[in-house]
Amino acid sequence: MEFNTVCVIGLGYIGLPTASTFATSGLKVIGVDVNLTIIDLLQNGHVHIYEPGLGQLVEKAIQTRNLIISSRPVQADAFIIAVPTPFYGDKKADLSFVKSAAESIVPFLQKGNLVVLESTSPPLTTIDILVPILERSGLTAGSDFSVAYSPERVLPGQILRELIENARVIGGIDQASAQAGKDLYKTFVKGEIITTTATTAEMVKLMENTYRDVNIAIANEFARLADRFGVDVWEAIQIANLHPRVNILNPGPGVGGHCISVDPWFLVEAAPDITSLIYTSRIVNDSQPDFVVLKVKEILGELAGKKIAALGLSYKPDVDDLRESPAIEVVEKLCQAGALVTAFEPYKTDFMIKHVTMAKNLDETIRDADLIILLVNHTQLKRIDPFQIVDKTKARIIFDTVGGWNPEIWKNAGFATYRLGVSER
Ligand SMILES: NC(=O)c1ccc[n+]([C@@H]2O[C@H](COP(=O)([O-])OP(=O)(O)OC[C@H]3O[C@@H](n4cnc5c(N)ncnc54)[C@H](O)[C@@H]3O)[C@@H](O)[C@H]2O)c1
Repeated sequence: MEFNTVCVIGLGYIGLPTASTFATSGLKVIGVDVNLTIIDLLQNGHVHIYEPGLGQLVEKAIQTRNLIISSRPVQADAFIIAVPTPFYGDKKADLSFVKSAAESIVPFLQKGNLVVLESTSPPLTTIDILVPILERSGLTAGSDFSVAYSPERVLPGQILRELIENARVIGGIDQASAQAGKDLYKTFVKGEIITTTATTAEMVKLMENTYRDVNIAIANEFARLADRFGVDVWEAIQIANLHPRVNILNPGPGVGGHCISVDPWFLVEAAPDITSLIYTSRIVNDSQPDFVVLKVKEILGELAGKKIAALGLSYKPDVDDLRESPAIEVVEKLCQAGALVTAFEPYKTDFMIKHVTMAKNLDETIRDADLIILLVNHTQLKRIDPFQIVDKTKARIIFDTVGGWNPEIWKNAGFATYRLGVSER
């Protein structure tokens, strides 16, 4: 199947790089978003999210006139839906964005079109939710138009490279749909393109993220055990991983982002009677910020009035994404316990948290602190030289929750050094 025009619905972390990559690969792309601020920014040459290289890519795509930004879909050969799939407070999937994106396509759908859902979705979403909405057009999925599910599996910070190089799975509602999806994505994908059913592709994405969540949950439980038994969990994991069939991930203050901390709930919701391991892992990871706060209380005693410098707020290193971030939860819980927290997020210095002083730089953050806590292993935070900051802070205690700092160097610089998952017995 040949494609000349693609309409990408949702211009966030996934949709914008995808739209721009299609455009710079020669297709005519209409990028659509409902957020008018985003439309305005993009139309004026500004990119609203941080992702290395994205600014230049969007600029190039717009300059070639292959990328047009719009608040409404238009007729196209293919439609790609890349809207959020968050969960509600009760952890049930919120598919309202997928539904409204699908509805917005209906008036423009024509015979021979392809519609691809990229948003991470619960099993059967493509068949049970997307297809019935699209068929309100009067056309029949399968015979009149193709429908496929193709999850995005890129790593934030590496999105532009991984979009092209990663293997991509494309699940069709029938074989022709899967093949049409393959024909579309081979425009720029250099990795292997695997075709399968739509529901298998939905499961693949959820299984990948759930696997990581369960693995991190066990790492977090190992950290708690190591803390109890006088073991250094970082050393123990490193040694265990020398085993050729063991690959334990790192513990930390919890699991965040709007993928790994969210997607496993889609499986729990879809089949609560057979997902006890997945459910328990979510509970373990969601309770990790409490474990971190407990440790801070053990170090400092009563927290009321204690000054804490919190370094990093994003959900993982070297990104500006704060969604579901456990670091923010730790900071909020420290405040609730009466601590006076000054926080620094190098990728979002204008972010606000109630009752927290947000610092613009490192020096401001640590100046009056009693304790410095490292919550995100950002490269620039990992590289802090304790000898350079020792005279800039009152703090003589550090707590590293991410295994970012060399304890010997910090001790030599005069800091009492605590690490998550490490205890002296
Ligand atoms: N961010 C990641 O690293 C990542 C990785 C893999 C998969 N995913 C999945 O990709 C999907 C999109 O994630 P994201 O990070 O790009 O989200 P995002 O919040 O960054 O962007 C989504 C965009 O969609 C827009 N939108 C919402 N409803 C719309 C509608 N009806 N019509 C047009 N635009 C609409 C929003 O305004 C927003 O700009 C999610 O399902 C997510 O789980 C994300």
